[in-house]
Amino acid sequence: MERNSILNLNPGPSSLPLPVLEEAARGLLNFNGTGMGITEISHRSKEFQALTNDLVARIRALLSVPDTHEILFTQGGASLVFSTIALNLLARFRLLHPNLPLSEVSADYVVTGVWSKKAYEEAKRLVQHTGVNVRIAADGRTESEDGKSFQSVPSKDKYQFGPADKTAWIYYCENETVNGVQFASAPEDPAAFPLDAALGPPQHTTIDPPLVADFSSSFLSRPIPQIERHALIYGGAQKNIGPAGLTIIIVRKDLLVDVDAAHTLGGCPPCPLTLSFQTLAESGSLYNTPPMFSMYVSDLVLKDLQAKGGLSVVEENNRQKQQVVYGVLEKMEEAGIIQLNVKPGSRSWMNVTFIFHDPALGARFVKEAEAKGLRGVKGHRSVGGFRLSLYNAITLENARTVAGFLEEFLASTKDD
Ligand SMILES: Cc1ncc(COP(=O)(O)O)c(C=O)c1O
Repeated sequence: MERNSILNLNPGPSSLPLPVLEEAARGLLNFNGTGMGITEISHRSKEFQALTNDLVARIRALLSVPDTHEILFTQGGASLVFSTIALNLLARFRLLHPNLPLSEVSADYVVTGVWSKKAYEEAKRLVQHTGVNVRIAADGRTESEDGKSFQSVPSKDKYQFGPADKTAWIYYCENETVNGVQFASAPEDPAAFPLDAALGPPQHTTIDPPLVADFSSSFLSRPIPQIERHALIYGGAQKNIGPAGLTIIIVRKDLLVDVDAAHTLGGCPPCPLTLSFQTLAESGSLYNTPPMFSMYVSDLVLKDLQAKGGLSVVEENNRQKQQVVYGVLEKMEEAGIIQLNVKPGSRSWMNVTFIFHDPALGARFVKEAEAKGLRGVKGHRSVGGFRLSLYNAITLENARTVAGFLEEFLASTKDD
């Protein structure tokens, strides 16, 4: 099968731009004229140090990350960060409030899909025994038709955050890859994450509570308005950024705490040093060997993104891509053959999810998509249905090809 006959709509790992892969292939053999490939040089060499600095600078520039925040690179995927967050943020809270009984403290999770639910469950597993109340501050399912599905972000009046001085962190997932539920990015949009309800008004200057967000599947797909109000933003690379193996963590400096000192104070579980934000920051993400190849390819992807005009161009492109695809799916919904899983307003730009009412038609859809070279159209094994992932490497032209296929499919059902 030739690469150019395939349109890769996988949810991650996913498609990467061809020129980047071609350059990466060269770097695999000879990185920056060193005579050694990127997987063969030392992670402590000046060449790799330069690459790390370059990657930090590109992320900082693309997302306008303020100087108050460090940019860290680590391994273990976004799932490991679920644990890292709980261990570091509880330690931070303990050090700031050594005399407050942890039974009065909460960690607030906004659950809008599979991944935020997993993050909530992991935090509960790791720190609930300390007395901290790991709780759901809003649950998207309560507003769904069956009370069980994730069909939208919560309405603005449904959030119940704890008091700021007793909340160790607030957590949300900006884009739920499996369910296709995404917060809107414009702060005034009713489906935007309610920053003011969580943190107080914008002029509110205290650092509590720290706001944490998983951007794994929407990282660099558009700017992050009010990024400075987030204490921590992170994501696995394997969707919009590069190969799996790299996790990017943008973390406000007051979250870099001495986890051992917090453990000694009592109440906090010990935190492995490889998971300590402070250790990662103090070592310039070189406490241990970082995922070098993934960082290299990610740097090339970001360079390509900058050359294309940066995030405002990417955002406009992504806006149009999803409009083109949802546009036809809405017609299919009107024709009564599919149902879009997510309500308008909360629909993901990156992961478009739907089901066929008739399973036989769904099976035919998969077969015909396959024949046309479309790959990765099936939904996540936990929810079934269908999912089309439109990450950055999918061009507007690719999105039009997908829409054309959907149009043809819809027309064919009318002939039946
Ligand atoms: C939004 C989100 N968070 C977390 C994860 C877990 O990522 P990883 O497999 O890197 O642990 C995923 C994986 O797809 C994801 O989409």
